[in-house]
Amino acid sequence: MISPRTLTKPEVETVLETRNVRRSFGGVVAVDDVSISVPAGHVVGLIGPNGAGKSTLLSILAGAESPDTGSVWFLGDEVTSDKPFRRARKGLCRTFQLTGDLPRLTVLENLIVAAPSQRGERLFVALAGKRAWAKQEEELVIRARGLLDRFDMRREEDSYVAELSGGQRRLVEIMRALMASPRLLLLDEPFAGVNPSLARRIERHLIDLRDEGLTMVLVEHELGVVERCCDPVIVMATGRVIAQGTMGDIRTREDVLDAYLAG
Ligand SMILES: Nc1ncnc2c1ncn2[C@@H]1O[C@H](COP(=O)(O)OP(=O)(O)O)[C@@H](O)[C@H]1O
Ligand SMILES: [Mg+2]
Repeated sequence: MISPRTLTKPEVETVLETRNVRRSFGGVVAVDDVSISVPAGHVVGLIGPNGAGKSTLLSILAGAESPDTGSVWFLGDEVTSDKPFRRARKGLCRTFQLTGDLPRLTVLENLIVAAPSQRGERLFVALAGKRAWAKQEEELVIRARGLLDRFDMRREEDSYVAELSGGQRRLVEIMRALMASPRLLLLDEPFAGVNPSLARRIERHLIDLRDEGLTMVLVEHELGVVERCCDPVIVMATGRVIAQGTMGDIRTREDVLDAYLAG
C-alpha cells in the first residue's frame, strides 16, 4: 500500500549514516561530532533536552542544513552535498509543515502535488483551480486515495487544509511524505500540538508503517511514544550523542537522567 519501493525486502542493512557531523551557529555548536547509523526497517528515536541539536541534525539529514564538517551517507552513497529535492528523489524524505499556499489546497490536491516526479508540480501549475486532473492523472489520484483510505481521511479529501484540526494536518503532512515513496522518513515531533486521541492514531499509523518495513527517524519528547515506536534510541545533549540503545537500556543511565534534568 505504501509503495513497491518500501515493501520490497530491504536490500541494505544500513539505510543512513552520518560520520563526524558538526554544525555550529555563531558560537553555538548545535551538532558536535555526531556519527549515527540508521538500520533498515527500524524507527530510530532521537531524544534529548531542548537545544540538544535534534532538529539541526534532522535538517542536516534532509539536506536543509549543511554540516560544517563530516558526511552523510544514504543507501551507501554520499549525499552530503545533495540538495533536499535530490535526496527526496532518492527516497530520503521529511515531513513539512503545511505553509505557504498549501492550506488553500484541498487535502487531495495536497497529496497530488507532493508526488515527486514533478508531474504533480507541473500539473498544479497547469490546472490550478480547475480540479480537472482526475482523468489525466488517475494513477496519482488512486495512490492518494489509497493513503486517504488507510489514514481514515477519505471523507476529508475535498476539505481545505486550512479547515482541518492540527492533528489532521499532521496526518496530511505524513501522507504527503508517503506520496514520495520514501526509503527513509524523517519526523520532527509529529505529535506536537495534537490532541491525545489523534496522537494515538498517528502513533498507530507509524507503528503500522514500521511493521511494513518503512525506516524512520523520529524526534520525540514523549518517552512513552519513543518506548513503543523506537529501537534503537539515540540520546543527544548539547550537540553530542551521549547514549544509544533500547529505551530500557537508556532508562538505567544516570548520566542521561542528569542531562534531562539539566535541560
Ligand atoms: N538557525 C539557527 N541559528 C542560530 N542558532 C540555531 C539555529 N538553529 C539551531 N540553533 C541553536 O542550536 C542549538 C540546537 O538547536 P536545535 O537543533 O533546534 O535543538 P533541539 O531540536 O534538540 O531542541 C540551540 O542552541 C539552538 O539555539
Ligand atoms: Mg527541535
